[in-house]
Formats: sequence, structure tokens, C-alpha cells
Amino acid sequence: MKDKKQTPINLPNGFLLGAATSSHQVEGNNTNNDWWHYEQQDRVPRSGRGPDHWHRYEEDYRLAKQIGLNAMRISIEWSRIEPREGKVDVAAIAHYKRELQYMKSQGLTRMVTLWHFTLPQWFAKQGGFAKRRNVKHFANYAKLIAQELGDEIDLWNTINEPEVYTYMSSLRGLWPPFRKNPLRGLWLFFNLAAAHRAAYQAIKTVLPHAQISIAKNNVYNEPFRSDSWLDRLAVNFTDWYGNYLFLNLVKNQLDFIGLNYYFYHSLTLGFAGLQQKNLDGPKSDMGWRTFPEGIYHLIMELHRRYNKPIYITENGIANARDDMRQDFIREHLEWCDKAIEEGADVKGYFYWSLIDNYEWADGYDRKFGLIEINYETQERTIRPSAEIFKQIKKSS
Ligand code: FCB
Repeated sequence: MKDKKQTPINLPNGFLLGAATSSHQVEGNNTNNDWWHYEQQDRVPRSGRGPDHWHRYEEDYRLAKQIGLNAMRISIEWSRIEPREGKVDVAAIAHYKRELQYMKSQGLTRMVTLWHFTLPQWFAKQGGFAKRRNVKHFANYAKLIAQELGDEIDLWNTINEPEVYTYMSSLRGLWPPFRKNPLRGLWLFFNLAAAHRAAYQAIKTVLPHAQISIAKNNVYNEPFRSDSWLDRLAVNFTDWYGNYLFLNLVKNQLDFIGLNYYFYHSLTLGFAGLQQKNLDGPKSDMGWRTFPEGIYHLIMELHRRYNKPIYITENGIANARDDMRQDFIREHLEWCDKAIEEGADVKGYFYWSLIDNYEWADGYDRKFGLIEINYETQERTIRPSAEIFKQIKKSS
């Protein structure tokens, strides 16, 4: 890709160049959710005060503006809004209102996710999304946010990465509630689709013109041997259940598609079952293989299947040395640009993440941020790679 680096990236006018965060990963002290509960039992690393974004959001959004971003994707912490069943914390609502208004004052378009993996503890105790009867609680919460904060939200995501959550919580059992139970996983998967549909309707009753989607983690799967029907079968099957089944369950309740892109898998099917190959190549500190071209193929496929506007709701790299991040972003944007040239309606790109944060079961060691956090002093330092956004602005 060396020569490509000189090519200007021609993003359309009005394109959103932003970064994403989520409440539990950046706010600090979210004491009323299920993660916090298990953190105290040391089942997962403790999130503690973290980057203290709850108190420092003004500085963080000023920095976002300073590095050249014009949008942010954040999430609202349900357990702050409704710490006990049916009890709304008006101070928490007022806080988010101030935060969203501040974002606007910094020229940031606001995309808001209603649920990004953490459950109010009271909801988790009732079985969370694994129980169909609990879906109504999520719809009520969505309606409340639409009523109270709707004027300050430009774009909506109801839920984040339903199948990542299903896989990590109920198939691998690595995330709360640590249940390795495929049947539970199946319920969860379908109930999350029902939760999205119910929340979508609830928001629309208050705000008929709201633009609502989900953030969907799609994997770019390729056959290891392109001439092997077995490998192609592996790809088709994996694409079907991992990438498109959930989207097909909610496609009539999507005003746009939110795509989270992190993973590239080269698949083969044989006597040893389904396996991943081509594991060599550039990798992030998470050990995830990077493959910018994959974003292009996924966008084009989403465009063909659903023909809706697309936002890249997350794409990012854990890279403490900051020696891969700039090329990573540039190359992904170049492939987005190519997809736009070929007719896909890509309207924005949110880098994960604005600041270093709590990477779930991996804790604070993973450095995804455009801005480095010193957790002792709370000092924020812009990483050199963040310079990329100014370069793009000039060249577009
Ligand atoms: C995504 C999650 C996000 C973050 C990144 C690295 O799957 O949505 O919270 O952890 O991965």
C-alpha cells in the first residue's frame, strides 16, 4: 500500500469522521451494573475510576475537536439512568444532557448507543436479555431516553454487537454472567433482536424521524483455498450466521447499517473441522490480524443486501507503540473511499477509541486510544497517529 499513502482520500461532503467510546469503558465508577458486580469478585479486571470521563468529558471532547473530528459515538449507561427497577435518576439524565450539549458546542455530531454490554444489576438478576419477558424493560428505557434526551441525539444505536455479547457471555462464558450454555446463547441472540425491534418502535413513537440502527460486528471471511467447495461452504455458513442472520431479523427496523469491523478470517473445512488459516501477518496488541481490505468487501456486501446508508460505527487497533495506527486508519479509509466510489452510501467512520479505556476482560492494558491516558495523573496526551485526521481533512 506504500504508493497509496500519497493518494488523497476523497470523502464526501458532510462525511462524519469521529471516534467511539462506551460508558462502562470510559466513565469510571459505574457501580450499579453487572460488570461492576463481578469485578468486585475479581472474575474480570476492575474498572474503578478508569479515565474518569464522567468528570472529564469536556476536556476529552475539546481534544476530539482539536485533532480534527466532527463526530462522536458514545453510549448511555442504563444502570445510571435506572439504578433500581422503575426508579429514574434525574441527575444522571441531566448529566447526559449537559454532556450531549457540550459535544454539540464542540461541533461534534452525536451518535448514541443505548446498550453497550453492561446491564443494570437489577435487570441482570432477572436474567437480563436471556429472558424474553425482560425485553419490555429495555423498550421502556429506550422510550425514556427518547423523551428526555431525544433532542440531543443525532443518530441512534439501540444495541452493540449482539453476537459478540452472546458469544462471550453464553458460549465462551468469559463475560458476565459467565454461562457456557448454547441454549441460553440462542435465546439471547433472538431476544436481542426482539429488544432492538421493540426499542426501535418505542423511540419512533416519540421521535418519528429518528435515525436508528444497531452496531453490528461483521467478520470478513475468505476461503483459505479459493478453489475448494468445502472452504467456500465454511465461508458461506459462517457469513450467514455470524454476519447476516441477526441483520435479517431486524432489517425492517434499520434506518442505516452500523458496521463494526475488526476481524479477518481465512477459513478451511476438513477432517479437523472448521479452522482458521493465514494467521501470519500484521497483528494488533490484541493478537488480532489486521486486514484493511476486508472493510471494503463487507461494505459492498451490506450495500448489495440492504441498500441503506452505512456508518462504520467502530474500527480500531490496540497498539501501545502507536507505530501501526496511522496506516491502519488511512488504509481503512482508503478502502471506504473505494466503496463510496463504487456506489455504497458510507456516511461516516468512527475510530475505536477516542481515549485508552477498559477493554473488558483484558482490562486497561490494551491501548486503543487516539489519546493516551495516564491513569495515575489523568493526564491526556494526543498520540502522534491522531494527526491523520487533519491530513485527511486537508486532502478531501
Ligand atoms: C468491540 C466493542 C468495544 C471494544 C472493541 C475493541 O467489540 O464493541 O466495546 O471493546 O471491540
